Amino acid sequence: MTIIITGGAGFIGSNFIYYMLNAHPEDRLLCVDKLTYAGNLSTLAPIMDKPNFRFCKADICDREAVYALFEEEKPDIVVNFAAESHVDRSIETPDIFLQTNIIGTSVMMDASRKYGVKRYHQVSTDEVYGDLPLDRPDLFFTEETPIHTSSPYSSSKAGADLLAMAYYRTYGLPVTISRCSNNYGPYHFPEKLIPLMIINALHDKPLPVYGEGINVRDWLYVEDHCKAIDLILHGGRVGEVYNIGGHNEMRNIDIVKLICKELGKPESLITFVTDRKGHDMRYAIDPTKIHNELGWLPETRFAEGIKKTVRWYLDNEAWWQPIISGEYMDYYEKMYGNR
Ligand code: NAD
Ligand code: TYD
Repeated sequence: MTIIITGGAGFIGSNFIYYMLNAHPEDRLLCVDKLTYAGNLSTLAPIMDKPNFRFCKADICDREAVYALFEEEKPDIVVNFAAESHVDRSIETPDIFLQTNIIGTSVMMDASRKYGVKRYHQVSTDEVYGDLPLDRPDLFFTEETPIHTSSPYSSSKAGADLLAMAYYRTYGLPVTISRCSNNYGPYHFPEKLIPLMIINALHDKPLPVYGEGINVRDWLYVEDHCKAIDLILHGGRVGEVYNIGGHNEMRNIDIVKLICKELGKPESLITFVTDRKGHDMRYAIDPTKIHNELGWLPETRFAEGIKKTVRWYLDNEAWWQPIISGEYMDYYEKMYGNR
């Protein structure tokens, strides 16, 4: 089978490529990535010469380029990871989020219809459900929870999901959608909470916690997310949404304190800064459906996953050093300079 993986030079897409090369060595994988600030070719360097892997630099909004690729490769499956993914950036510049996340998705689905792919999988997020109150720990997101977005990022992802369901109903495109909670692990871009805190702590720089640090996220080790998508591709029902999450809710402040502990750094580095606009309070996934239908269960416990992740950043400075010394510096100054 030939599988197109968009956004494969980013965090989860690259982990998915490595996962699939290992789990299904008989498949041919084609990574389509625009290489935005978040895409890193160095992540894929070790597999560039593999005969069953091909990298193609392209924008998923570029209809001509996408159709040409489908014409040439005749893919069986498309997994769409490509997206603008950072909430804080979406607050600054929403338009690029609408472009890539909605228009790009429509182009990928049009190509998938035209060339008759057997499965189009849309990688979505739990953020489309909005947030849950902190004082109702009994509430969780199920697949029936209404879409109720907060940020331009989550709104653009919800727009893509609605479009995907419309393509299923209107054109019969064999669509599946997964909505996962926050991921962590190797190759996570340093603008996001966990890698940002690890790298800042390593440099003894302030650790900027938004608001009071009491917002809750439901963290999942990235490999568990990859495994869930693989199960959906092979056994999921078309036209269905699957929530993915491992019941691992943590407050931001507790994550940052844990990272300090792992690195032997003082908690005095923690600095409370102005809150994010519209900041979602709590995400929490109910993964009953994917567990019951596909037997999925997370394998990596947080205590073990965070240790592995911290170790990975310690061992792979050659990966993140070029990133934080480039345009990331300007971004950091803009976001955190006067916060
Ligand atoms: P990321 O920002 O690390 O990577 C995104 C990748 O997409 C990059 O390689 C980038 O170059 C590429 N890209 C961006 N715009 C493109 C375009 N127009 N054409 C082609 N490629 C383009 O993102 P991530 O964290 O790996 O997230 C991947 C997907 O998973 C996204 O759809 C995101 O919404 C979803 N998701 C992420 C999380 C999380 O915790 N990170 C959780 C749930 C769902
Ligand atoms: P993030 O990694 O951006 O993921 P998301 O907003 O998609 O959940 O942020 C995770 C949480 O950490 C979120 O509640 C915002 C918070 N946060 C900080 O407190 N400080 C930071 O510097 C960043 C990047 C995030």
